[in-house]
Amino acid sequence: MASTSFWMDIDIAPDAGVLDGVRECDVAVVGSGIAGISTAYELCKRGKSVFVIDRGRICGGMTSRTSAHLAPLCDDLVSEMAKIRGKEATTLFCDSQAAAVDRIEEIQKKEKIDCDFRRLDGYLFQGQGMPADIIDEELEAVRGVGAPVHRLMGVPFSGCENRHVLRYPKQATFHPLKYLAGVVKACRENGVTFYRDSPVEEVTEENVIVTVKTARGVIRARHAVVATNSSISDRFAIHTKTAPYRTYVITFEIERGALPDALYWDTEDPYHYVRLQPGPANTDYVLVGGEDHKSGEADDAQDRFRKLEAWARGLISGLGKETHRWSGQVLDTIDYSGFIGRDPGSTNVYIAMGDSGQGLTHGVAGAMLNAGLISGEDHPWKEIYAPGRVPLKAAKNFMAENVTALKSFAEYVAPGELTSLEALTRGEGGIIRRGLEKIAAYRDNDGALHLNSASCTHVGCHLHWNSFETCWDCPCHGSIFDVNGQPINAPAIGSLARVQE
Ligand SMILES: Cc1cc2nc3c(=O)[nH]c(=O)nc-3n(C[C@H](O)[C@H](O)[C@H](O)COP(=O)(O)OP(=O)(O)OC[C@H]3O[C@@H](n4cnc5c(N)ncnc54)[C@H](O)[C@@H]3O)c2cc1C
Ligand code: FES
Repeated sequence: MASTSFWMDIDIAPDAGVLDGVRECDVAVVGSGIAGISTAYELCKRGKSVFVIDRGRICGGMTSRTSAHLAPLCDDLVSEMAKIRGKEATTLFCDSQAAAVDRIEEIQKKEKIDCDFRRLDGYLFQGQGMPADIIDEELEAVRGVGAPVHRLMGVPFSGCENRHVLRYPKQATFHPLKYLAGVVKACRENGVTFYRDSPVEEVTEENVIVTVKTARGVIRARHAVVATNSSISDRFAIHTKTAPYRTYVITFEIERGALPDALYWDTEDPYHYVRLQPGPANTDYVLVGGEDHKSGEADDAQDRFRKLEAWARGLISGLGKETHRWSGQVLDTIDYSGFIGRDPGSTNVYIAMGDSGQGLTHGVAGAMLNAGLISGEDHPWKEIYAPGRVPLKAAKNFMAENVTALKSFAEYVAPGELTSLEALTRGEGGIIRRGLEKIAAYRDNDGALHLNSASCTHVGCHLHWNSFETCWDCPCHGSIFDVNGQPINAPAIGSLARVQE
């Protein structure tokens, strides 16, 4: 089964144009995922003129690949965050994430968006073979930040009656693309213009005017918000504080009522995550995710899906046929909160990146924070998300994640995976060495070769083939390229250098 997410059939704003010529506005928002669209919404409601510009279709990035749990606690455990950030910052972080869920609830109500939004319980349960004390430690930490939590035994999965569990009330979920289609409609009614198929090549700043440049057009604005999932305005420093991870999701049919509507995730590492989505008649869909690994460090998606399916069928009785499978990428930060606010070293450019697996709530909290800062308001969340922060206590995570870059550069002196281009079968990709050069080679289903440099155009790490998604993944900071060498995920802006056969 090819990679297609449960939400991808919705094309938001297919009528949006391509940026052409010179335009002026108060704020240019680069990127139209949940972070960019929510930012445009907050700003237009404050009376700002806003343009949103995207490289591809509107909301066609990682937001269209999410599983959409709206779970406002720390994704990497509140106890872990408190160890690095302290109780006060962790409390503020959890408050801001909860405020983001409240804001989604408020917007869908106010704008009358039919998006299956609902409040429900979330269950963190002891994973297979995992110690119970993780649950006790987490209980104490969550109580410490003042969030509601209850300790109990068992979740409604087979064989999990005696697992230790925390129940979090007042979590939420929704259909992310239906929600964002409604937000885009509200934005347009408030004067926001959306541009699609317009890759931004440069964001520069001079005399308090920000210039956003594409191949065919220019936007001049008082402020810009770079919401490209991974920043394209900051070239390097901030990227050393994040690490890309690929995660996998399968969806199955299930009879309505067979599994209570709730969010579920376990304490394994990487953890499994489960939620329901209402379907037609008496059918629901169960989304089951997990099997994460560092981007580019594995190309075994089908094995991972097999494991995910075996895990799900072992635990959830009555699972029907599979309907979708897909993967996507999240950007973990070394100290567990995103980088949101003024881009270090600039005056009027703001960024929102570093989703840590809770990028939907990060996107909405980031929109609230950046819109406030641009409007000249002070904001209590400013410090916990400050892009320039130096997280000294996260030095261990910093070292662990940045070893990837060193390993990646070392790959340039290693032999290629292929001995010759003839060895490449249709639909396959692989790395071949030619002299000092490493080539990312792909043979399409018609037999034609697509040859590009294997060097990422961000800062040069060595690319890896992803056979399930048919793309090239960069293990260092999350760039992804299609088989023609075009970037499909930031921070890369430029396409891969073409190589002659
Ligand atoms: C499988 C999976 C499950 C997840 N589950 C959850 C979950 O349960 N809960 C949760 O909160 N989060 C979850 N996440 C994370 C969350 O979905 C993402 O972090 C979030 O959607 C990212 O939103 P974004 O707006 O930052 O980025 P995106 O949605 O990727 O939007 C960025 C946009 O910027 C555009 N862009 C990039 N470069 C340029 C350029 N040069 N010029 C113009 N445009 C550009 C892209 O085309 C894209 O449309 C999950 C993610 C995945 C992959
Ligand atoms: S994403 Fe930074 S080098 Fe590739």
